[in-house]
Amino acid sequence: VVRVGVLGCGYWGSKHTRVLQGLPQVAEVSVIDASPERLALVRRDYPALRTFRSLDAAMDHVDAVVVATPPRSHAPLALELLEAGKHVLVEKPMATSVADAERMIAAAERAGRVLMVGHTFEFHSAVWRLKEAISSGELGDVYYVDTARLNLGLYQSDVNVLWDLAPHDISILNHILGSAPTAVQAWGARHAHAVLEDVAYLRLHYADVGVTTQVHVSWLDPCKVRRVTVVGSKRMAVYNDLAAEERIRIYDKGVSFAEAEAGPAMPMSYRYGGISSPYIALTEPLRLEDEHFVGCIVHGRRPATDGANGLAVVSVLEAAQRSLAEGRPIELAPIGPTSGVAA
Ligand SMILES: NC(=O)c1ccc[n+]([C@@H]2O[C@H](COP(=O)([O-])OP(=O)(O)OC[C@H]3O[C@@H](n4cnc5c(N)ncnc54)[C@H](O)[C@@H]3O)[C@@H](O)[C@H]2O)c1
Repeated sequence: VVRVGVLGCGYWGSKHTRVLQGLPQVAEVSVIDASPERLALVRRDYPALRTFRSLDAAMDHVDAVVVATPPRSHAPLALELLEAGKHVLVEKPMATSVADAERMIAAAERAGRVLMVGHTFEFHSAVWRLKEAISSGELGDVYYVDTARLNLGLYQSDVNVLWDLAPHDISILNHILGSAPTAVQAWGARHAHAVLEDVAYLRLHYADVGVTTQVHVSWLDPCKVRRVTVVGSKRMAVYNDLAAEERIRIYDKGVSFAEAEAGPAMPMSYRYGGISSPYIALTEPLRLEDEHFVGCIVHGRRPATDGANGLAVVSVLEAAQRSLAEGRPIELAPIGPTSGVAA
């Protein structure tokens, strides 16, 4: 049994708190937040939980901590916790620089503690089904993947839309393609916000699987969209995370070209086949994620979304940020033990 702290109990930390206090292997949940108003809400909803205004005060009461504070504070807080011998689950993005993410990995190794990253979608059964549709050959050769994560808000004050929303899409893409991008190009703009980009597009090239993907993230869109489209030579799949049912639809659609004798080929036939929607048993991904964290601590295992998995996403974000600033594509070194931005 493990005593777990939730550091930062805002929108997302409060969900961790709800999930953790229901897990059988969690002996005690402590909530740590600088804001007395937030702590008052926690005590109202969960009178049995301990609450603390500072990490220092909570240190002796926790073996493991979920860091759910704004992104820029992730690295300093996680380093402090690892150095104090605590296991850490840090929310996405793991850190706001590759150097910080590497420091966190090194600190976890030195301390012999679990370092896990909150890439929630890697614990989502719809994402697993999408991965299976690709790896089983059901979709044929993957032509491209397109993702959209749009809404009006929620504007953040700590990081731009790229660092806020794209971690989800990059972690989904890395997971379903079983790879990591080798080149990144980004375009973004500030519209309603004075300093932070509120709209961004990324093009990620995965050279080893020969797939290029587009990612659109926005805080400034009239429609809420959470969609991943995988277009293959045999079939096309759409994962719509907002659909109550049929989160994944597989379209038996495609286009065939005849062998061209001369000149450019014209499409000879379009296939408009049926649409199927595989059954997906959904357990709350955050519950699976928090169970995995506690399980890794109890059994001494390395998490599926470990520090290297988090670093892979931060490397893409840092390269994308550089691409935004310099207006050119940025190459990434292939992922290895000393991965990072290469050029
Ligand atoms: N995995 C997911 O699907 C998912 C979803 C939403 C948010 N997140 C991540 O969760 C994190 C928090 O996001 P949020 O929307 O809940 O933010 P939020 O602003 O609602 O909450 C942050 C909380 O942290 C507290 N805080 C800040 N610094 C602190 C410190 N040094 N010590 C103690 N408390 C401190 C604040 O008082 C606040 O209550 C972010 O990293 C975000 O990217 C992840």
